[in-house]
Amino acid sequence: MDLPLRYQTPESWAKLALKQPLALLNDHAHLEKKAAGNALELLNRWPQPVPPENWVQAMTTVARDEVEHLAVVTRLLSRRGGKLTRTHQNKYAAQLRKLVRMGTGPGELVDRLLVSALIEARSCERFALLGEVCEDRELAKLYKGLWSSEAGHYRMFLGLAKDLPQVSEVDDRWDQMLDAEAVIIQEQLPGPRMHSGV
Ligand SMILES: [Fe+2]
Ligand SMILES: [Fe+2]
Repeated sequence: MDLPLRYQTPESWAKLALKQPLALLNDHAHLEKKAAGNALELLNRWPQPVPPENWVQAMTTVARDEVEHLAVVTRLLSRRGGKLTRTHQNKYAAQLRKLVRMGTGPGELVDRLLVSALIEARSCERFALLGEVCEDRELAKLYKGLWSSEAGHYRMFLGLAKDLPQVSEVDDRWDQMLDAEAVIIQEQLPGPRMHSGV
């Protein structure tokens, strides 16, 4: 699948991240948890006056998928002797969230959906890369399996944003967001994290 991302992660990123597989799994588990929470938070933030037909179903589907991913990743983590940390930071996502025009009603909603789509698209790109590079067969299988699920989420969030009533210029906003994401991802520090820099 062609992702619209404007910065292509090099293979060297995956090789470096995989040097600390447990730390990578821990970071990954937290991201799945946050993704589930994000979908549940969006569940009742549908555009006024009534939710589009597929809104609630889309959000519950994403939340359920992410909880499933969380279960798989945390199981692998503990089986390999790792531990889920209590706290977690994701500067990449925090910086993307700053792009959301808070308090602007439909504008805020479109931005939230687009940021969600961006995070899914970037995760998708990175899972594909990890799946190719990883020499550990069990982990390679995990990453290859997640790729298609996150690709589906990316398409769903973008589709919901484009279908929003009362919002024009979603394409322009998406174009700006894609540019901003390419800068933000490159500013991240390197390390065993899904959204780290190079
Ligand atoms: Fe996921
Ligand atoms: Fe996802």
